[in-house]
Amino acid sequence: MDGLFNLAKILLGLILNQLTVWNKDVRFYCVNDSSGSPIAYFYFDPYSCPSEKRGGAWMDEVVARSPVFSQGGGSPRLPVAHMVCNVMPSVGDKPSLVTFREVSMVAFSSGH
Ligand SMILES: *[C@@H]1O[C@H](CO)[C@@H](O)[C@H](O)[C@H]1NC(C)=O
Repeated sequence: MDGLFNLAKILLGLILNQLTVWNKDVRFYCVNDSSGSPIAYFYFDPYSCPSEKRGGAWMDEVVARSPVFSQGGGSPRLPVAHMVCNVMPSVGDKPSLVTFREVSMVAFSSGH
């Protein structure tokens, strides 16, 4: 993820900051433009959880960017997306190792 975020910074000028969430495995990020202003948010839920998730990987919006709050001169509502994968979590002292296919799945699903 660090490599992917570094690419996003180099290629697109985007800065990703991890914010805290209620779940130890789900990460929440704020996406800032190159001037440091937030432009979007996304949840990243990487790990397989067979009892709660179907297989595969997918991404969708939670809410879209909307001008609805900007009519009185306020800021627009920023978009929030979620990205869900099924990577095996780390077990004990064995790290979570991903396959090349899983890396490309994360990279391509985040490129929407
Ligand atoms: C990104 O935006 C958030 C929200 O305004 C701000 O708290 C954070 O410091 C910004 N981060 C960077 C690296 O600009």
